[in-house]
Amino acid sequence: MKINCNIFLSALMLLALSGGCTRQVELPVIPQPASVDYRCGKFVVSPSTNIYTNVSKESRIAFADYLEGTSLGLLPFVDNAAESGLILLNLVPVGFDSDEAYKLTIDRHKVEICARHDAGLFYGLQTVLQLLDNGDGKTLAAMTVEDSPRFPYRGLHLDVSRHFFDKEFVKKQLDAMAYFKLNRFHWHLVDGAGWRIEIKKYPRLTSFAAWRPFDDLQEWWVGGRTFCDQDDPRAVGGYYTQEDIREVVAYAAERHITVVPEIEMPGHSEEVLATYPELSCSGIPYADADYCVGTEKTFEFLENVLLEVMDMFPSEYIHIGGDEAAKNSWRKCPRCQKRMADENLADVNELQSYMIHRIERFLNEHGRKLIGWDEIIEGGLSPTATVMSWRGEEGGIQAVKAGNRTIMTPGKFCYLDAYQDAPNTQPMAIGGYLTLEKVYSYEPVPDSLTVDEAALIMGVQGNVWTEFIPTEEHAEYMIYPRILALAEIGWSPAGRKNWEGFHTRALLAVEHLRDNGYHPFPLDKEVGDKPESFRPEEHVARGCKVTYNGCTYGKHYTAGGDMALTDGVRGGWMYNDDRWQGFIDCDLDVTLDLGAVKPVREITAEFMQLKGPYVWLPKQVLISVSKDGENYEEIAVVDNDISPEIETLQFKYFGWAGETEARYVRYRALSNGIAGGWLFTDEIVVR
Ligand code: ACM
Repeated sequence: MKINCNIFLSALMLLALSGGCTRQVELPVIPQPASVDYRCGKFVVSPSTNIYTNVSKESRIAFADYLEGTSLGLLPFVDNAAESGLILLNLVPVGFDSDEAYKLTIDRHKVEICARHDAGLFYGLQTVLQLLDNGDGKTLAAMTVEDSPRFPYRGLHLDVSRHFFDKEFVKKQLDAMAYFKLNRFHWHLVDGAGWRIEIKKYPRLTSFAAWRPFDDLQEWWVGGRTFCDQDDPRAVGGYYTQEDIREVVAYAAERHITVVPEIEMPGHSEEVLATYPELSCSGIPYADADYCVGTEKTFEFLENVLLEVMDMFPSEYIHIGGDEAAKNSWRKCPRCQKRMADENLADVNELQSYMIHRIERFLNEHGRKLIGWDEIIEGGLSPTATVMSWRGEEGGIQAVKAGNRTIMTPGKFCYLDAYQDAPNTQPMAIGGYLTLEKVYSYEPVPDSLTVDEAALIMGVQGNVWTEFIPTEEHAEYMIYPRILALAEIGWSPAGRKNWEGFHTRALLAVEHLRDNGYHPFPLDKEVGDKPESFRPEEHVARGCKVTYNGCTYGKHYTAGGDMALTDGVRGGWMYNDDRWQGFIDCDLDVTLDLGAVKPVREITAEFMQLKGPYVWLPKQVLISVSKDGENYEEIAVVDNDISPEIETLQFKYFGWAGETEARYVRYRALSNGIAGGWLFTDEIVVR
């Protein structure tokens, strides 16, 4: 594999020219640097190579410590810059537009990295390390690299509530993040399935709300969703002590990564309200998901928690969640109703906004800034909050148009808990089908923005929700290599984007990660999308008018609108790829007009079933044909024979074959009647 890859690499990336000069189409580095100027010659790292730096003594120790675990680990730091055979790390005060920018010069005598800040030197070193790791381990072609990130925020999020991952696992991911120049770790520390951070004032959060009496989250979900004491023999879970947190934060800082903690409010808080029910509207354990906004006890609790959180995390930004609050309990709660009346709040959205604004003021008073999921826009966005746009890009667009900062992490491109390959070849996942190529296709700056608005987009983030990710190996499998696509989107200039080159480099990165004890998805064995989705479907009804006799398609699943079922475009593995048309709680009933009476020998359409999101096969399909559009002959009744209980993704064609003539084809797919259920099809094929 190693040899094959190196041959591959030489063929695709390193085009060696005569005279010892090298021209490279791309550097074997992720993210691809902003600019590379190739020179003649090479530098060879040998046991006599030394490292010299003018950084502070403290930084020098930090660099030496960091390099110990890398391919430059054995080289000594020296005090004299005059020697040759040197790697130089030079802080220079001018010439860089960001602390993370660097200039790397490699010639026969030296490797020199210049930057205005340790962060830039650190990133220059990552480029050198990747060049060595993806080459022969010692030879560096002569070149000048001038590099700086496109965005200041390049993040990875990890949900440790649904499944707990210990501090060593987190540190391992921080190592990989640094290697790929990611600089924000968004730690989703608390959620309804478990509280994971020690708060000294509220010890029950970690002696109770961090432990579940079930090994498996799905069993816990159907088994009552209760918590248990830490010393209960059934207890499964865990939490980070304050010491653990400080250790991780320091480890991240040594890698120029800021850890952004998330403390969820007002929703996703079942674990807190089971433990301290006086913070809920009902006052009853296990009855509510949202904090009561009417009681001062909620604010006292959250402020006390945030004080300890701010003490542990130096991050300027604190994430307060804000997503998916049901707000139902607030509608009936007298205290919430009183709060709404006292504060002149029109509805529960404004009540949520009241809470978020109040918490933001508290954070600001302590010198911190607030980030929230895009629901914090509802009910009135504070002018200073930063919005993390996850339900598409609309929240982010709205935020920057209002002058707020945003971080783009739309589910369709950035949710790394989705399937990354053909679903039936993969472990159970949620959220759709998101390949490396699709992640890489993401462009975080929508065309509709002005230059000033675009400047408010701080960057991108990949999110790892862990409902279906119970183990460390599985988490790494979902993270890598997809996070590398976001690393490149976040760092490299938009104009440097090149899928083929990135794919080749990602194959190398996967191999490197595997060699270093990670468990990435085997990109070289990717199956890819549903075969039908790659080519247009040629058939008699292609381009023909479709009349919707009954209900119409759902607004989020139009597949392009009224012509989608005859546009020749076939869907991929998932219903949410914009190629499947979806119908909720109703039958699909359409008539196609072929334009003239034609011989017809086949009429068929494919449907899918996925139990989790309530996507069902039709109970029955009825097909009829007509020459005049008035008198129809029913030619097929097809029953479903696939159980709705099957958990895995199912596909089934419902059709007819025979000999007839028709101008009009009526195709009816009857819903199986399960409330909230969907029917999805992509094309009604007539041959
Ligand atoms: C989210 O995925 N609920 C932010």
